[in-house]
Amino acid sequence: MTKEAGKGARPTTVRLQKISRAFIESAALNAAIDLELFTAVSAGHDTPEAIAKHAGITALNADRLMTMCAACGLLSWKDGRYENADDVERFLVAGKPSYAAAWLRFAQADWKRWGELSKHLRNTSEIRPIGDYETMTVEQARRYHEATSSIGFGAARRFVKQVDLTGRKRMMDLGGGSGAYSITAVQNFEGLSAVVFDLPPVATVTREYIEKHGESDRVGAQAGDFTKDELPKDCDVAVMASNLPQYGAEVIQQVIGRAHDALLPGGEMHLVGEMLDDDRTGPTDAAIWGLLEALANSTGTTHTRSDCVGFFENAGFEDVSVHEFIPDILVRVSGRKRE
Ligand SMILES: C[S@@+](CC[C@H](N)C(=O)[O-])C[C@H]1O[C@@H](n2cnc3c(N)ncnc32)[C@H](O)[C@@H]1O
Repeated sequence: MTKEAGKGARPTTVRLQKISRAFIESAALNAAIDLELFTAVSAGHDTPEAIAKHAGITALNADRLMTMCAACGLLSWKDGRYENADDVERFLVAGKPSYAAAWLRFAQADWKRWGELSKHLRNTSEIRPIGDYETMTVEQARRYHEATSSIGFGAARRFVKQVDLTGRKRMMDLGGGSGAYSITAVQNFEGLSAVVFDLPPVATVTREYIEKHGESDRVGAQAGDFTKDELPKDCDVAVMASNLPQYGAEVIQQVIGRAHDALLPGGEMHLVGEMLDDDRTGPTDAAIWGLLEALANSTGTTHTRSDCVGFFENAGFEDVSVHEFIPDILVRVSGRKRE
């Protein structure tokens, strides 16, 4: 949908009807993943009858679901047989290294809370400073990062292609989760080590990822809350990725300020976040992550690209610049600490 949709020609209800029922598209996608429909189609079970047998559902229901998936562009249909769309084939066929179902179902965990959004928006009880993270257990952190890692390592590979860290010695990875950025960075830049700084239950899970990737000598995990605990020292690189809308402006400003102060002179910082365009009309993804924080009753909200540039400049960073990272999803803002 374009930003201009709904303007110009005489309005009809069509666009509004589509938005009002968009959650059914999500339901169909989630059900198809549950039933391993795309994995089965890829293996040649490409008719409703074959899917019915494979998934243990009726042929009528298989036909309903496949029709919906085709209408959403997830499948195409020719001569009675279905085929996965290219992105579905790459990311939703179980067993492929690029399988990202855990991330694509990440928002589904909040399905019931989204259904009561107006109730959450009316909530005026005291804000929870770190939102849903307050009560996170190690087991929840493990599930959470099974999802983030299924796309985080891809984002990290893009990061090391965009950002040359040659000659850098030590990176702090604030809210580093699975350690995707740290693990990928040390594997790409000789002489670099990294410390992932994340909440205590997450740091336990981070260590599992570091070990699995064989990087325990070069990547460590430090447990802490970046909104109040002391940040790692002796680093000449700071990265903070994919946690921007989880906090309000005051907190983000304060964390970027403290990261600036903790960095060695001449060090660089990269904030990779779900930023809103400066005209505040998109991308939708940035708005979604900000709105999600209403469910958690945290300080979190969406920040624009210029808000983020302002956070860096107020912190004292120089050469502050904005870079496209993953179109419609993530933007990177970078700055350098004076020598
Ligand atoms: C969406 S994950 C992103 C993980 C990783 N940076 C990536 O891009 O793959 C957000 C991470 O920020 C961490 N986080 C959020 N608030 C934090 C805080 N106050 N202190 C430390 N870590 C925090 C969460 O625990 C979680 O691991």
